[in-house]
Amino acid sequence: MFKQASLRVFARPHQLQGLSRSCLRRSYGLSRYLTTSRSIATFPSRLSASATAAAPKTSYPEEPQDLTDQLAVDDLPIISPDGSQVAVGWDTQTWSRFHNIWLRDHCRCPKCFHPVTKQRLFNTFDIPKDLTPLRVDATAVGLEVTWPSKEPHVSQYPWPWLKYNSYDPPLKKETPPLEKILWGSKIQQSPPTVAYEEVMAPDNRGLYKWLTNTYKFGFSFVSGVPATPEATEELALRIGFIRETQYGKFWDFTSNLAKGDTAYTNLALAAHTDNTYFTDPCGLQLFHLLSHTDGTGGESLLVDGFYAASIMKELHPDAYALLSRVPVPAHAAGEPSALYTPYPQTGYPVLRHDPASGELIQVRWNNDDRSVMNHLAPDEVEKWYDAIRLWNQCLTSPDSEYWVQLRPGTAVRTSLPSSPSPPLLPPSFPPLTHPISPVLDNHRVLHGRSSFTGKRRMCGAYIGVDEYRSKLAVLSEQFEPDAIVRATNDIPEVNVNGRNIWNSAL
Ligand SMILES: [Fe+2]
Ligand SMILES: [Zn+2]
Repeated sequence: MFKQASLRVFARPHQLQGLSRSCLRRSYGLSRYLTTSRSIATFPSRLSASATAAAPKTSYPEEPQDLTDQLAVDDLPIISPDGSQVAVGWDTQTWSRFHNIWLRDHCRCPKCFHPVTKQRLFNTFDIPKDLTPLRVDATAVGLEVTWPSKEPHVSQYPWPWLKYNSYDPPLKKETPPLEKILWGSKIQQSPPTVAYEEVMAPDNRGLYKWLTNTYKFGFSFVSGVPATPEATEELALRIGFIRETQYGKFWDFTSNLAKGDTAYTNLALAAHTDNTYFTDPCGLQLFHLLSHTDGTGGESLLVDGFYAASIMKELHPDAYALLSRVPVPAHAAGEPSALYTPYPQTGYPVLRHDPASGELIQVRWNNDDRSVMNHLAPDEVEKWYDAIRLWNQCLTSPDSEYWVQLRPGTAVRTSLPSSPSPPLLPPSFPPLTHPISPVLDNHRVLHGRSSFTGKRRMCGAYIGVDEYRSKLAVLSEQFEPDAIVRATNDIPEVNVNGRNIWNSAL
């Protein structure tokens, strides 16, 4: 919908007629890549955003009409200055208003915005409070605003960018190319999986597939990872820096309690997210079972926290609201040399939402690491315990739990999809057709395990949420650029140093 060709004027026939004629009459060449423009000087004030009533018919001198030109012009939105704002009419029903100060502050000409570093060069605080444009034009590329200044200063805002960033009112955004897919235990029939060779291939396509799987499902297996710490570390580094913590950088551990955490034992672990004791829990967790000898058990548990939360919201909205509001303190205190608690120390709610959209963005839950709940109002204590009991029911329901027996990954096994399950697998688990190593979105998918006997050697790593999001953004730019980038890529000089200056993330 942001494609230039699809930007259309929806106006009453007599308005269109007047506009198109005025366009033909007033053509400006303010920019080398603009061929058609419309000046506000030609717009009667009644075409402003507030003009919803039928405007009186305006007569314009008869001029020859060129059909091609007419079509090109009709593709443009209607614009009109409106006091301290500029109104843009996308169609007869939909108008956006942009404040003059906002427009000036968002100028992305090379004087105001460094095209290489993508940083603001212009001093926002030099903008006079009562700044008014000298003129406003609708061009084939976008809104063009000429500002009063010693030297002529012209700002251009591509239509798709302007529409995407409309704040008065906020407009519905194009459906993002990536959407989250909530899942329950049935995902065992076809868990998201990418082959190790694909992920490691230099063209980055497999890496993109791995990360988009992780975005959509909150986890993705990688099949055929060689069962060595070196190969697993290399795999982690495909995404970004490994996040070093009190447990080290890249872990390679057994159940010897080398670190003061139950992960380093053979005890069962209920579904949890890691690092609830950090202000900023890690974004991804990657782990790989390198070997399991002389014993059984140790099945891995994955639970989609967003799915469990959706059930909770549906069945127990009050409890959901309480978990979304009450902060939960936590600690990591098993190492004498470290004592971690989040800041602020009362912690963060189990369910965190985007304050702008209200969308659930993070699940943070580890009942074992929880500290003293001394900040609850007396009349909330029982309600809160009821709420976490319900939450626990949602997490531990057979419909939510995905149990899987991980196996040491070897490149050889991937080519043997019909190989029989090893004796380690209990019969109740579906046989996996290939060795796997999962990466989890630690802000969404909870993990746990059953107890085990024998000796297990695991390795793995944390990756920061920002490294993960950055890598996904860069690969999306490459393989599935968003609508704004697609619509503006052909404008000269917008792509500098490998990035479009109108990228929606900037
Ligand atoms: Fe964990
Ligand atoms: Zn500028």
